[in-house]
Amino acid sequence: DATYETVLVETHAGVGLIRLNRPKALNALSRQLIADLNAALDAFEADDAIGAIVLTGSEKAFAAGADIKEMQALGYVDVFLDDFVARWERLAAVRKPVVAAVAGFALGGGCELALMCDLVIAADNAKFGQPEITLGLMPGAGGTQRLARSVGKAKTMDMVLTGRMIDAAEAERIGLVSRVVPAAELVDQAIAAAQKIAGLSRPSVLMAKEAVNRAFESPLAEGIRTERRLFHSLFATEDAREGMAAFLDKRPAAFRNR
Ligand code: CAA
Repeated sequence: DATYETVLVETHAGVGLIRLNRPKALNALSRQLIADLNAALDAFEADDAIGAIVLTGSEKAFAAGADIKEMQALGYVDVFLDDFVARWERLAAVRKPVVAAVAGFALGGGCELALMCDLVIAADNAKFGQPEITLGLMPGAGGTQRLARSVGKAKTMDMVLTGRMIDAAEAERIGLVSRVVPAAELVDQAIAAAQKIAGLSRPSVLMAKEAVNRAFESPLAEGIRTERRLFHSLFATEDAREGMAAFLDKRPAAFRNR
């Protein structure tokens, strides 16, 4: 596996694991960390042996947000010319499913990265928040948009305007996370969920992800049309023939991603 300065990568039978690794800064999302994350995502996205990705941090922090030390040095023209945080959107463009495994703090940009993932599995000690307002800033990596689409206006305004952190139970209740698990089982459970996905037919998995994401970007009728086209196109795959035949033969399906 490749080595990076601020992320660790591993593979687990069809699953690529990316671990954010700046422990002294609670995985604050520095320029270097985003570059490393993007390189690791590119590598797993290009690797045919990988069917799904897990993104995690440490037991104490998924990520405590953008690196405030780096941001402090930036003025308006700097962030404008650099298009600051545009590079963070790489995660949202990954076609393979990404499971976020969140323990500890997921704040600011850390919460926003989790919102770009497809499943969010939270440890019971996870804390989510958008505290940018307490810095005199506001969320800048999709927090006002993805959070509003995912949990609605009432909770988004509460989090974005007050900076209040919510715990794992509240995050699950409002629909920000998919599942809450004991902290000790977090990464194993996230890998298991990702392996389940990686063992399915890749064309159907990628199209299903694309269709669900379309729900957040288009009017209902447009989304339904997209779904119908993608659904129809899966009837052209060998895997759909195999999946249906296997069900009727009462045997496990052997998908070949074709
Ligand atoms: N940037 C840079 N360094 C950070 C950091 C961040 N976002 N978060 C934590 N750190 C550093 C601390 O400065 C500290 O470093 P030193 O040991 O060198 O002092 C180290 O990580 C440990 O942090 P604390 O001592 O603060 O740990 P704690 O357990 O007392 O508190 C915390 C934990 C509540 C997460 C607290 O660190 C905190 O509030 N962090 C900032 C959270 C934040 O405001 N995030 C939003 C960033 S803005 C953003 O993300 C913009 C965007 O939308 C794109």
